[in-house]
Amino acid sequence: MNCTPRFPAFLHGGDYNPDQWLEYPEVLEEDIRLMQKAKVNAVSVGIFSWAKLEPEEGKYDFAWLDAVIDRLWAGGIHVVLATPSGARPAWMAQKYPEVLRVGEDFRQAHFGNRHNHCPSSPVFREKTRAIDRALAERYAGHPAVILWHISNEFSGDCRCPACQENFRRFLQKRYGLLEELNRHWWTGFWSMTYTDWAQVEPPSSIGQGANPAMWVDWRRFSTAQCKDFLAMEKETVQAVDPSLPVTANLMHLFWDYDYFDLAEAMDVVSWDAYPSWHIGDDYLEASQFAMTHDLMRSLKDQPFLLMESTPSLVNWQAVNRVKKPGMHLLSSMLPLAQGAQSVMYFQWRKGRGGAEMFHGAVVGHDGTADTRTFRDVTRVGEALEKLAPLYDSPKAPAKVCMLYDWQNKWAIHYAQMGRRENMDYDGTVISHYRALWKLGVNIDFRDMRECTDLSQYQLVIAPMLFMTRGGIEEKLRRFVEQGGTLVMTYLAGTMGEDGLAHLGRTPHSLTDVLGIHTEELDTLTDAQHNSLRWGQRVSRISQVCELIRADTAEVVGTYGEDFYAGTPCLTRNHFGAGEAWYLAARTEDGMLAAWYGELIRALKIPRALPTELPDGVVAQERGGAVFLQNYAPERRIVALPGRMRDLLTDTVAEKEICLPAYGVCVLTAAE
Ligand code: GLA
Ligand code: ZN
Repeated sequence: MNCTPRFPAFLHGGDYNPDQWLEYPEVLEEDIRLMQKAKVNAVSVGIFSWAKLEPEEGKYDFAWLDAVIDRLWAGGIHVVLATPSGARPAWMAQKYPEVLRVGEDFRQAHFGNRHNHCPSSPVFREKTRAIDRALAERYAGHPAVILWHISNEFSGDCRCPACQENFRRFLQKRYGLLEELNRHWWTGFWSMTYTDWAQVEPPSSIGQGANPAMWVDWRRFSTAQCKDFLAMEKETVQAVDPSLPVTANLMHLFWDYDYFDLAEAMDVVSWDAYPSWHIGDDYLEASQFAMTHDLMRSLKDQPFLLMESTPSLVNWQAVNRVKKPGMHLLSSMLPLAQGAQSVMYFQWRKGRGGAEMFHGAVVGHDGTADTRTFRDVTRVGEALEKLAPLYDSPKAPAKVCMLYDWQNKWAIHYAQMGRRENMDYDGTVISHYRALWKLGVNIDFRDMRECTDLSQYQLVIAPMLFMTRGGIEEKLRRFVEQGGTLVMTYLAGTMGEDGLAHLGRTPHSLTDVLGIHTEELDTLTDAQHNSLRWGQRVSRISQVCELIRADTAEVVGTYGEDFYAGTPCLTRNHFGAGEAWYLAARTEDGMLAAWYGELIRALKIPRALPTELPDGVVAQERGGAVFLQNYAPERRIVALPGRMRDLLTDTVAEKEICLPAYGVCVLTAAE
């Protein structure tokens, strides 16, 4: 599958904002020459261009964009064309203030910034449709244009009267009767019972802020609103030409919307990845971004695009570090190893002013190609050309599936339990993922609704599956019964998707599969610890200790301390033709690495490189090639299973290969 069928090649380029440079014609000419030099083949144009495209209500000016697109195309550069709804012009906010959002405290925003429209506002929708239609009619058939980039980084929600009305309609559809809403939101507590739909308001800091079921419904509603807006834009542009695919750029494990759901409204998934290199351990940082790349690939189970990354540094961290030598190529190969079909940047050229004038860009204020950043970018362009044979080769089918579910994440957060500030669902999924990534196995993600067929997997891992939905209990039961290996952890099967706690023993409907039941949830301060004793080994436990009882399960590990010392912490149960593990406490990376290492070996799950890799080094397979990456600040020697050729340097290595600090190579078997 190709993300951009009109130009089936790795895309290399990024956000191009020529509308800021219209008074500098020589800069616009020079851009093309520099893009060619940097081996840029595609740029995203028109993100946030509304004020230039429609300077006055209903009066469009496309002349400048015609010239930009023609100039790019004459230079052999393709265009990812954006709709401008990520920011509205000042005249619109002035004339129709209802296009601006109403916040969490029911205060309306003033004009300024971006990403702050009301998704319900009929005027905003009408204006968006009109400009989208005009753009599509003018450019969808242009040979340069290969993809629609809808809006920019959709985020947030709105509590204006129109959105409130939509929220009530959403709830009426979900619950039918007000009594049902009262039942699911458990409004008998604190005398919250609603007697009229008009009394139901969005959750807020000055009204109802503490009802978990209501909050989760609000997040579902916000997702539905965003999805509806995206679908409206998609329909508008594709009414003109249905063959031009649509993407919307997503963000790292983003809180506001359920991305599995949102992805249904786009043809191609793309996202903006901004790791913070050289702040802490780069290997840990890489693993969380690898996880999100795999998640993005999994949203539609197809290749995805890296729509933005920085060619050097960002300007929004507390401390902004430039990439050390090697890191730009290495960090650009990371998404490729997980299945991406592009390396794109924010942004092409640094602006002279505005909020991001000092954010990294391919071309700096000096305007030359003679910079370290420009050379780094060119090197990535060259690498992508060398890797062209891998373009439409995906990763080999994964044998391991992890469950990651937005609604579960929200449910854990709003439940007000345990470590109230942060039960750290994301961090927990990442730590389990990291152990598997390090082993060089391929991993798919599914959410509870999406995982209709688990039979293609040998190992399914469901960390912190607090809320069950989509019939997941039955799906997991069948998976184990038929011979699969299941891993579950603390919090499993505690509440239903209807917002209510499961009654009876938990994990709900899975106690016989797991052979255990859970009894109490203890959480620790950061200074406190317990330990897991398993076989001859002792591993540190932090933050979460669930007290469980083994029914039919074999006790593989027990707690080392506290009044529950000696009680089960790690268990294994045979069920049907498979087995189900339960890990009751939060253990350190070393334990997860050792435990998953044994599981992967026992299940004979394929690994990118079967050898032991040194610290900081990871190997990932794609299209039969091995992306060998060194995130350590020192060189590393890696033993190879045979003669291998590095596609990046076209050299052959015999028994081992030496990777410099932040070095990367892409290896295939050599004759
Ligand atoms: C986001 C936005 C871009 C830019 C970058 C800066 O990804 O989409 O417009 O602001 O962040 O890192
Ligand atoms: Zn609104």
